[in-house]
Amino acid sequence: MKVKIQSKEKMNAEIAKLYIDMVKEKPNCVLGFATGSSPLGVYAKIIEAYQNGEVSFKDVTSFNLDEYVGLDETNDQSYRYFMNHNLFDHIDINKENTHVPSGIGDYEEKAKEYDKLIEEKGGIDLQILGIGSDGHIAFNEPNTPFDSLTHVAELASSTIQDNARFFSSIDEVPTKAVTMGLASIMKAKKIVLIATGLNKADAVKALLEGLVTIKWPCSILRNHPDVTVYVDHDAFSKVK
Ligand code: F6R
Repeated sequence: MKVKIQSKEKMNAEIAKLYIDMVKEKPNCVLGFATGSSPLGVYAKIIEAYQNGEVSFKDVTSFNLDEYVGLDETNDQSYRYFMNHNLFDHIDINKENTHVPSGIGDYEEKAKEYDKLIEEKGGIDLQILGIGSDGHIAFNEPNTPFDSLTHVAELASSTIQDNARFFSSIDEVPTKAVTMGLASIMKAKKIVLIATGLNKADAVKALLEGLVTIKWPCSILRNHPDVTVYVDHDAFSKVK
């Protein structure tokens, strides 16, 4: 696992370049996207590159990590809305080739097909991850089995609290999500993870120094051959 301690500005530019270079090298690549605040700066840089005519996403397929149960794409807190608004509406990706797990209707059945769909498209070439203060990746909370595939998960109370900032009250935060599992994420060929801020410091310490344990889901990444962790000084502050 590589670790890069950098300013937010520098990591955004570096990770965006990885995405852009991947698309230039393999125009029909499969990209893995995340939501939340961590990847926003990366998406802004990708949009900039597209607008400057540097890259086209017309043959790209994408998969997102997760979606809240109960929110459809018209809800501005749904992850489908987030992706349209913060990336897909501003680049030439074909929306039909963008996949976000469904959190409505027969979402449990659809979750079972998500890993198969990723496999059919050739697997994820490059996956971006954020990390929860409790060490979750996607919505794989502590004690999620390492062999989990896409499934419906209960959100930990710390995650509900962390995410309440996006909602008008904590009661509105969904308590369940459809999420790619830990085994689904581990199949990505290359992974980059962003962690910034003091509230990520314990999770970063567990990711880089602790035991590989289901108590810290992020720690599974130590078993992956190609992970780069981008951290700022605050998030790195508890690492010895
Ligand atoms: C979002 C996701 C989550 C977030 C994590 C960090 O798709 O999978 O695991 O990456 O909760 O969220 P932020 O970036 O808002 O701190």
